[in-house]
Amino acid sequence: MVQIIPAILSTTEEDYERDILRYKQALSFKDGWVHIDLMDNIFVPNKSIGSSVVARYQIGLHKEAHLMVSRPLEWVDDLIEAGFERIIFHIEAEDTQECIEYIKEKNLEVGLAIKNGTPIEKLEEFVNKLDVVLVMGVEPGFQGQGFIPQTISKIKETSRLRSNGNYNFRIGVDGAVKDDNIRHIVDTGVDFVIVGSYLLKGDIDENLENLWKTLRQDQDKLNG
Ligand code: DX5
Ligand code: ZN
Repeated sequence: MVQIIPAILSTTEEDYERDILRYKQALSFKDGWVHIDLMDNIFVPNKSIGSSVVARYQIGLHKEAHLMVSRPLEWVDDLIEAGFERIIFHIEAEDTQECIEYIKEKNLEVGLAIKNGTPIEKLEEFVNKLDVVLVMGVEPGFQGQGFIPQTISKIKETSRLRSNGNYNFRIGVDGAVKDDNIRHIVDTGVDFVIVGSYLLKGDIDENLENLWKTLRQDQDKLNG
């Protein structure tokens, strides 16, 4: 069954505190994961809070970092300190091989995110070491953007890469997942989706229930 993971992208501690507490209080995410976006204003034109802010809040959720930074290796120790259990960074950044190995040495899960314009073949030399491949549905950097349609073919290519090589990394999609496209994305064969602005606008539990409803309708149809 597909997993829906809430995303938080904050440029100030005030925003982080507000949104992370809302996720913490949402009944639907108890014991689940949260996807925390971190940015350096170099790899993407936006700067987020750092890991020291994350470390200040006890949230009772497993934390996954999505590093949109040019030198991910320099972030890893602080992320471990802040209690992250999975680190996803970009294949377009520096030190890919070294960073994967370092994260694995520290016994955390590791994933690579890939932008829409980057060929999926670039993943080939790394996939045997990955727990996760995160296919971007938007250009990284901001919440609330529109879904890039080519993402669907990128997911299919990633899925083919996995079955051809008999790998067992999980495939996720990050960016612009909403009620009007989640069915299509899930049908394409992803294991999890990351959802930010769709959940945060209004009541989180209600919004999440809407997404599940959309997926259940699909299931009902399949079952006749
Ligand atoms: C985009 C981030 C996403 C974002 C998702 O750079 O990596 O994780 O927070 O938010 P929405 O769902 O609004 O695109
Ligand atoms: Zn993200």
